[in-house]
Amino acid sequence: MSGFMDLEGRKAVVTGGGRGIGRAVCLALAAAGADVAVVSTTRERNLAVAEEVVALGRRSFPYEVDVTDGGQVKAMAEAVLADFGEVDILVSNAGIQHHAPFLTSDFERWKRVVEVHVFGAYHCCKALMPGMVERGWGRVIIISSIWGKLPSPFFSSYTVAKHGLVGLARVLAAEMAALGAKGVTVNAVCPGFTDTDMVTGPEGTLTLTAEKLGVSREEAWERFYRVSLQDRLLQPEEIAAMVVYLASEKGRGITGQAINVCGGAAFH
Ligand code: NAI
Repeated sequence: MSGFMDLEGRKAVVTGGGRGIGRAVCLALAAAGADVAVVSTTRERNLAVAEEVVALGRRSFPYEVDVTDGGQVKAMAEAVLADFGEVDILVSNAGIQHHAPFLTSDFERWKRVVEVHVFGAYHCCKALMPGMVERGWGRVIIISSIWGKLPSPFFSSYTVAKHGLVGLARVLAAEMAALGAKGVTVNAVCPGFTDTDMVTGPEGTLTLTAEKLGVSREEAWERFYRVSLQDRLLQPEEIAAMVVYLASEKGRGITGQAINVCGGAAFH
């Protein structure tokens, strides 16, 4: 395939690839030409997405992994390297939400959110970036959030984790340059509210907010979620398109950035 964002021959790992934004990223990378390793905690969903990638004419394997477990991530990296030979693109996307007023929050649940986002990205970057540095080419795309730039009241663990991921992208970009690996770029993508299970599914934040208040989802949206200029949920494919751009050769000049895809909900 040759196109504006040609990823022919590239090998990608996508965490949280079993559904939502991660699934859309897997399919968009595959459509641009990449082989894709689908990584998440949900075996069946990984398999289903891997089959969708194969249907697009690319190679794909599912890996059932909890990204908070460094041993599991290391084993996954070894298996992917055995399957693909190398990894050029890492999309660190796995994530969870937790609603809790800070003052009454439970420490273990608070910590788990930080572990999934920040420690998950730590383990994946550590396991998969050495090959990129060695070859002098790589793309690391970390899915943060507008809540990596703004506070989300009653989601303090999520806000802290997402701010941490912006910091991780910036410092890793600087370290790649310091190591002379200038072909390895590291960026964060910061989505606004996106139409996935995390927001609109049965356990999603919009659904739970509406239930808690005893109002319709439309009213909950008006009161708490109407934060963007466009006043709409983003679609996962809109986030995926930015990921593909950053992964492409055309995106090589972008590193150390935290790029909003948020319908104008944040301005920095
Ligand atoms: P989702 O809940 O639909 O999907 C999350 C994925 O992460 C699932 O595949 C799940 O199995 C996986 N996952 C969770 N914990 C894991 C673990 N410990 N190890 C491996 N995989 C794990 O959520 P969605 O919306 O697709 O979110 C994807 C990313 O985008 C997350 O990092 C989220 O914080 C971020 N994001 C989402 C927004 C939204 O409005 N949906 C807005 C901004 C950022």
